[in-house]
Amino acid sequence: MIKTLTKLNIFLLIITAFSCNSNAKKNQQKQSEISPYDTKVDSVMSLMTLQEKIGQTVMYSGGWSVTGPTVSSNNKKYIKEGNVGAMLNVYSVKGTRDLQKMAVEETRLGIPLLFGYDVIHGFKTIFPINLGLAASWDLQDIEKGSRIAAEEASAEGIHWTFAPMVDIGRDPRWGRISEGAGEDVFLGSEIAKAYVKGFQGDDLSKHNTILACAKHFVGYGAAQAGRDYHTVNMGEDELRNVYLPPFEATIEAGVETFMTAFNELNGVPATGNKFIFRDILRGEWGFNGFVVTDYTAINELVPHGFAKNEKHATKLSIDAGIDMDMMSSANRKYLEELVNEKKVNMALIDDACRRILLTKFKLGLFDDPYRYCDEQREKEVIYKPEFLEAARQSAAMSSVLLKNEVKSLPLNEKQTIALIGPLVKDKENIIGNWAAAGDRKGKAISVYQGFQEFLEASKIMYTKGCEIEGDDESGFQKAINLAKKADKIVMVMGEDYDMSGEAASRTNIKLPGRQTDLIKAIRKAVPTKQIVLVLMNGRPLDLSEEHILVDAILETWFPGTMGGNGIADVLFGKYNPSGKLPVTFPRNLGQVPIYYNMKNTGRPIPLDNPKEDYKSNYIDVPNTPLFPFGHGLSYTKFEYSNFELSNNKIGFSDTLTASVTIKNSGDYDGHEIVQLYVHDKVGSITRPVKELKGFEKIFLKQGESKTVSFSITAKDLKFYNNKVFTVEPGAFDIAIKGTSDFDFEHSFILE
Ligand code: GLC
Repeated sequence: MIKTLTKLNIFLLIITAFSCNSNAKKNQQKQSEISPYDTKVDSVMSLMTLQEKIGQTVMYSGGWSVTGPTVSSNNKKYIKEGNVGAMLNVYSVKGTRDLQKMAVEETRLGIPLLFGYDVIHGFKTIFPINLGLAASWDLQDIEKGSRIAAEEASAEGIHWTFAPMVDIGRDPRWGRISEGAGEDVFLGSEIAKAYVKGFQGDDLSKHNTILACAKHFVGYGAAQAGRDYHTVNMGEDELRNVYLPPFEATIEAGVETFMTAFNELNGVPATGNKFIFRDILRGEWGFNGFVVTDYTAINELVPHGFAKNEKHATKLSIDAGIDMDMMSSANRKYLEELVNEKKVNMALIDDACRRILLTKFKLGLFDDPYRYCDEQREKEVIYKPEFLEAARQSAAMSSVLLKNEVKSLPLNEKQTIALIGPLVKDKENIIGNWAAAGDRKGKAISVYQGFQEFLEASKIMYTKGCEIEGDDESGFQKAINLAKKADKIVMVMGEDYDMSGEAASRTNIKLPGRQTDLIKAIRKAVPTKQIVLVLMNGRPLDLSEEHILVDAILETWFPGTMGGNGIADVLFGKYNPSGKLPVTFPRNLGQVPIYYNMKNTGRPIPLDNPKEDYKSNYIDVPNTPLFPFGHGLSYTKFEYSNFELSNNKIGFSDTLTASVTIKNSGDYDGHEIVQLYVHDKVGSITRPVKELKGFEKIFLKQGESKTVSFSITAKDLKFYNNKVFTVEPGAFDIAIKGTSDFDFEHSFILE
């Protein structure tokens, strides 16, 4: 393609010709300080007016998807005035090229736009929701899925995804727990890196790589009472040891952008919070990408009670180190005035503009603003068969077998199955929330279709039985009749896709509507037949009633475009389930927050006397969850033995090796996610009763054994206390298991 010499290229040629002597001066600086684009960015900035620099810090929505409150804006006018640096929620080659042409050919300098979109778990080929992907504990598969998402998104003009969401989530009331990697810092940090690597690839100048965005910085998942956008208050030890590490992990993986959180943190809203952005993100971590606000978040400093008005909010935001304004119009309206009134330092505008321009150079947009606008590639890439196959595998690997009494699963082709439930034939909810440009009208494979690959028509008897919501039980009797005729009953139930995700907190985490009543009615009608419950949901549910009524439970989250195939592959044993819970399932909401790595308290329940009085417990339910973090069954049996430590004592510069042998002693080949846990028994602040510090997904054929080893050094044991990260000598418990539900038997000394 012949590259059109844009106006800016001509300008740059002129500027570069005159600036060669300044380059000579620069070259005297340490080469390491000069990025390959710094000179070009300097040249472009030397041409820009204050208004044009501010323009780069402004982002508007194209409205193709609605991801926040409706805000009217005359985008095309602002683009042509050079007042816009990026657009979100518009995609396709044509859609992005039309707007890019306006920016490149109708503005004074022709600076290209960035196009951003929420490509969270797929673009058109939709993968399981992120909480489901986390349940696979398969970092390679997560990276592969986000690589595929980047391939599709970049083929439709997208340069930038607002992902990964790396907020630690421990409250199932919070709808956005569905978008993250669950409750654990180590697992969440490893998964965060996998997403960034998948989206950004190894070279951002390639046209199939896109910018990643670590969000929402920081503490969003700790919203009080699980209510979205609610207040967040926590000590610095909790912030440093739990909520910050996954974000720091994205920087280790090279993430190019960050997004602010909506919430306040200890009284200071994130979008105006110097401590987290200037002190931590830039000061301590040396992040040099750019920070974008969340949707209208600058203006929300006013209702937060942190800014007098939107102009004041604009100052607070840029002072805090926020570079780009998503949808507030605050920067466009007030920044020039604030600079002219000397209330905002011009250097801050330059810093923000420079970071944004640098990113556009890295993407190659100044060389060719239309490089992501290739109709041929758009036709070839979307829904590639290998992408759909990958989504099918991810759906299977993300499923978690929570219960499987009397070997109810796997199913076999000889059985007649009663397929009952509101999500059996569903093709809309199955792709979950934040499903980007995914299709909800028919592209997805339903569970019913998945069954059709394994059973002839006469072996499948279907009825919906009830809706997801509502009180209608008129479908119960037909469901009961089918159950009486069938060999086994498979019930596919759960939530609507929009019962989780943003602004979707629930005060009740049970199955909605009459679904549980339908399970009760079926159980009553066929007291001895095996019932398998298949769940599609965006959060841990209270399954305290259901798990007694049914023989098997398969948690599939929202499994994506190929979900029906993936689920059927698991149910019929084509894929032996290997998923493990990334988040705790409570016995009821009263236990929340509940997560595996809690503190011991001064009155822990004695293991040998759970009923002992005056202990930290409830009088109505045990302290233990219904299903713990790291739990997940297989159709086969994995036996752990021969736990060994290379030493019982290590120094601060030593490496300890812990190993265990795992044997597949069951009837199926399968994967096992082997987990390493430690417990720092005494610390200058109390430490969690368990901490995941390693995991490995292995495959064992029937009868096969393998020894798995983990290396531990002092740095793996560090924690933050009172302004410093520290590792303290002392005794540590250690174990390698297939779940977090165990008691330690081994320990070592660090001295
Ligand atoms: C939303 C979400 C954020 C998303 C952004 C753009 O409000 O909080 O996660 O990336 O707006 O859609």
